[in-house]
Amino acid sequence: MNAIELLKADHHRVRTMFREMEQSEKDAEKRQLLAFRIFEELLTHARIEEKLFYPAVEKALDNGSAEKLRTSRADHAGAERLIRELSALSPDDEAFAPRFVRLVRDMEHHMAEEEAEVLPLAARVLRGELEELGCKMEAMRKDLGQPKSRRGELGVTRAEQADEDPDGLL
Ligand SMILES: [Fe+2]
Repeated sequence: MNAIELLKADHHRVRTMFREMEQSEKDAEKRQLLAFRIFEELLTHARIEEKLFYPAVEKALDNGSAEKLRTSRADHAGAERLIRELSALSPDDEAFAPRFVRLVRDMEHHMAEEEAEVLPLAARVLRGELEELGCKMEAMRKDLGQPKSRRGELGVTRAEQADEDPDGLL
């Protein structure tokens, strides 16, 4: 999978989970697990982009064109702050819903902007490098998915994740 396909697949998974969350209003247990999966997915996505994807695009660009990536990084920082706050709450807490709605709104905006501007820009400047970069990004996703590297960060046990995520995407 090349780098752009991989990021689009990330976005698709996140959007699907946002919709599932909307539709599971009455199932507290499902909401809790889904919330953790969303946080994991977003944090992994942000790390892969910041460590590998953005630097590769920046390297291929002159400085003046890198403004979009600064916005994207700022979006990630905002999302990470919200995720830290949300991780300390249960989806049943009153404070959860407004923050979660904000996270969804911010991330929908972030993903749409990436798809409209950052990914087409990357496709133009990285062309021949997209496959190799995609391989590195996939390898990093696998590393981040290893039990010890992520466990505890959000208070989720691997056993809980394995039940919910037989494909091992987390
Ligand atoms: Fe992103």
